[in-house]
Amino acid sequence: MVTYGSLFPSRFTNPIDAMQKSASCSGSEQSTVTPITRRAMAAIPDTFVFNEIGPVSTQLARLNQSPAVKREARMDVEAFRSMVQDRRSVRGYRIDPVPREVIEDIIDIARGAPSSMNTQPWHFHVLTGEPLDLIRQGNTERMVNGASPQREIPLNHGYEGAHRDRQIEIAVQLFESMGIAWEDKERRRDWAMRGFRQFDAPVSIVVTVDRTLENDAVGHFDCGAVTYGLVLAAWTKGLGCVINGQGIMQSDVVREHANIPEDQVIMTCVAMGYPDDDFVANDVKSTRRPVEEVANFVGFDG
Ligand SMILES: Cc1cc2nc3c(=O)[nH]c(=O)nc-3n(C[C@H](O)[C@H](O)[C@H](O)COP(=O)(O)O)c2cc1C
Repeated sequence: MVTYGSLFPSRFTNPIDAMQKSASCSGSEQSTVTPITRRAMAAIPDTFVFNEIGPVSTQLARLNQSPAVKREARMDVEAFRSMVQDRRSVRGYRIDPVPREVIEDIIDIARGAPSSMNTQPWHFHVLTGEPLDLIRQGNTERMVNGASPQREIPLNHGYEGAHRDRQIEIAVQLFESMGIAWEDKERRRDWAMRGFRQFDAPVSIVVTVDRTLENDAVGHFDCGAVTYGLVLAAWTKGLGCVINGQGIMQSDVVREHANIPEDQVIMTCVAMGYPDDDFVANDVKSTRRPVEEVANFVGFDG
């Protein structure tokens, strides 16, 4: 079986493993082997690492404990926490176009996402203007005419149990914010149509995966990671997004107008634009399960 360990050249792994072992033996230095330290260690010639393991480790530990590094790290944590907690899906947009350079920078940030074996199996098709309008039109017409959804990746048809409860909860929150009564089928249908039109966002980024990984859950996982990166990076620039499965519900329409090559498979799309602050559904804050419910800690007590 191919594993991470078997793929990395020993020049890279051995010195670091040795150092980590040394650090954990001494106890006090264990937590100082951060990614920055690892990078720095990787740059040190093997012979030096093997021969001088103690001094190098101590030196790098000191570097990571400098007051400047600590202060910066604290600031980053709070900025990161509020970015993650303040972000929400945006479903109402201003018509203002989003400059291409801004989107390029968002993709530049997002491409730093991790992926299995660093395969980076993702592609981004950034659409605006006429091609995007043609996709909205084709997607909507087909859904109105009762065409069954046509997605390119396997899909769970209908949530159940707790998943279904949460699906209903967010729908109720959105409808209540918009003043849409649950019985009002027409307005609920209009809302669904907004989704098929990608909420009239000025930009849509279609995320695709290499076809060789079409049925590979790990490749799909990688695309999820990079897509969240896109959404967060956009948020830092004052842009809103909604990851929008409805927008690719008729994937062959998307494929045609976005000119997607045959060796890629459509995963999802991300509607993006400057949020319309008067659109009330943009204020909806969805709930999250608490840490005690989602996490199981093992070996921490005693
Ligand atoms: C894979 C995926 C597909 C989604 N598709 C849709 C969609 O088709 N329509 C929609 O309104 N929201 C869609 N969403 C947004 C979710 O409803 C939203 O992320 C969730 O309710 C949590 O709310 P928040 O993003 O505001 O925190 C999708 C999200 C993900 C991750």
